[in-house]
Parts: sequence; C-alpha cells; structure tokens
Amino acid sequence: MSEKHIYILSIESSCDDTGAAILQNDKVLSNIVANQKIHADYGGVVPELASRAHQQNIVPVVQQALKKAGIDKKDLHAIAFTRGPGLMGSLLVGTSFAKSLSIALNIPLIAVNHMQAHVLAHFIKETDQKTPPFPFLCLTISGGHTQILKITDHHIFEILGETIDDAVGEAFDKSAKLLGLPYPGGPLIDKYAKSGNKHAFSFTEPKTANELDFSFSGLKTAILYFLQREQKKNSNFIKENLNDICASIQNTIINILMKRLKLASKKTGITNIAIAGGVSANSEIRKILKESEKSLGWTTYVPKFEYTTDNAAMIGIVGYFKYMNRDFNKENTLATSRLKINE
Ligand code: KG4
Ligand code: ZN
Repeated sequence: MSEKHIYILSIESSCDDTGAAILQNDKVLSNIVANQKIHADYGGVVPELASRAHQQNIVPVVQQALKKAGIDKKDLHAIAFTRGPGLMGSLLVGTSFAKSLSIALNIPLIAVNHMQAHVLAHFIKETDQKTPPFPFLCLTISGGHTQILKITDHHIFEILGETIDDAVGEAFDKSAKLLGLPYPGGPLIDKYAKSGNKHAFSFTEPKTANELDFSFSGLKTAILYFLQREQKKNSNFIKENLNDICASIQNTIINILMKRLKLASKKTGITNIAIAGGVSANSEIRKILKESEKSLGWTTYVPKFEYTTDNAAMIGIVGYFKYMNRDFNKENTLATSRLKINE
C-alpha cells in the first residue's frame, strides 16, 4: 500500500514567540520561530505588546515556513493551531489566522493543547532521535508549567505532581531579574552557571503537602533576602559572584525537580523518563538526566533543542495525530487561556 503524505501547517502563538511549521506526516519540513525581543526591556512578557508583535509576524512567518518546506498552500491537508493555555491576546492572533485560512482553503481545522504539544514533541520523527515507549513519565518544565505526568497513550496524560505556585521557568526568570539580568533570564543563568561553583551558596528547599508537588515562590523570596543581606556587606556582591550565585540557584532548582522525579519513578516503577518544555533546554538538567541512566537505570528522552522552547513543530505533531483520528474542530472553537493538560 503506498503511504499517503499528509501536509499540515501548524501555528503557535501562545506567549511571545510566533511560530509556523510544515509537517509531512510526523516529519518536520520547516519550523520557523520569530522571537519577540521587545519584552527584554520590560523584565517580562507584556501581553499587549506580544499580541501586536504576533500580528506583525504571523503572515511572514507562515510564508517562510511554506517556502522553506517547498509546499504550496493548496497542498495542505489541515491547519493546526494552539488553542491554549497562554495569553488570550496572543492566542487570538493564531486562532483567528488559522480559522480564516482553513475556511479559505476549505481544509480541516485542528485545535491543539500547548502543554500536550510540549510532551508529544518527543514523537517528531528524527533520524537521530528515539521516541519514548508507553507508559513513560514526563517532567514538563516551562515558563507557565511544572508537572510530572504519566503518559500511557498519545491522548492520556495523568498529573502525578505539579507546582502549587510559580512555574520553574518563572523561578529561573525571577531569580535572574533579582540579579539584574534581562528577560528571559533562564538561559543566562544556565550560561553563567557553567563557570560557577554550585555549592558556593545554599537555599532552603520548599516542602509541599503532596510530596510530588512543587513550590518555587519561597525560593524567590529566599534569594531576595540573601542578596539584600550580602549586598549590605558588599555592594558589588552580585557582580563579583555572579557565576557562583547562578550555579547555586540552578543547583537548588534542579535538586527540587530531580527529587520529585526520582520519587515518581520509584512510586510508579516507570523508568522511561522524558523532559519537555522550555526549561528542558537547560544544559545542567540535560547532563544530570543523562547521568541518571547509569546511576538509576533510567532510559531518558530529551527533545531536540529546537523542540524544547515554544515552537510550531510540536503543535504540528499533535495536529498529525489528531488528523489521523479525524479529530477536527469547528470554526467557532474558542481560544482558552486556561486549559488543563487533558482538555
Ligand atoms: O516552553 P517555553 O518556551 O514557554 C512557555 O510555554 O512557558 O518556556 C520558556 C521558559 C522561560 O522561563 C525561560 O527562561 C526558560 O524556559 N528557559 C530556560 C532555558 N531556556 C529557556 N531555563 C533554564 N535554562 C535554560 N537553558
Ligand atoms: Zn511552552
């Protein structure tokens, strides 16, 4: 039987990155992301500016994705888009664009949950990448979410633990802000930590009622008080110790994550462990996870770098699975800023 090729255009606009990708079945032909540099000046994403930038970027980004893939609009079989969770003004740009194009081309519309997409990015077919077998655990760590999930099927996600306050990406970004670093500070902490001593300073790790849950708001306060105390003694404290402070903060955050992940593996007996989301780009987390293959007997799955932070290819892979199930959406589907992993 000759296999038919399905071409899907996918759109991601949940936060501050405008993305468009073309997938041929589960393979990525193009994956274009326009980052919005404008937010760096404000120390965080400004929703109003984000939606304006999406409006500017969306047409050129889609055109570039089609061009790079060598695909004409009329060759497309479906359009997938991020329905949520995310910033409403940002989601609306991608949602409206996807709806209009699907009507114009008379092809199906597929609404995608952004958090499912971060996890299912592991199923994008790449020659050098293995896909996790079911069931597997996924530590989903991004700017908006921190969860340990048990995944038993492409459509079944069970939350074993999650943050009760800030997401881990926020912990990175807010700590970076306290150090005077621009947004998003996560990648900068990662960079400076490489030359620092992770045992230089220690911060108390939070306790949670459910031992698989996370809490990061206390850490931010602990760092703030620590910096205020040290700066009273030495006004150049941050400048003189930046690498060590970054390494110590990163080490504390990773300890919090790893402790819960180990416990979840022990409780479920599952040793296929994946990570997903923007924070999984962190080089130390990647290193520690790789080491755990030997020390804990895990098989670990780390997404390709370009599929970790927000991108449209991950929306496209969910679109492909939904297309194969004929799971289509009507034109009146609403963007939803709050969306649970199973919705
Ligand atoms: O998944 P993502 O692109 O957007 C959301 O859906 O939230 O994640 C963005 C988050 C930001 O908080 C950013 O600081 C963090 O991922 N991040 C990192 C690194 N790269 C991105 N955090 C730590 N180390 C990194 N290398
Ligand atoms: Zn994301």
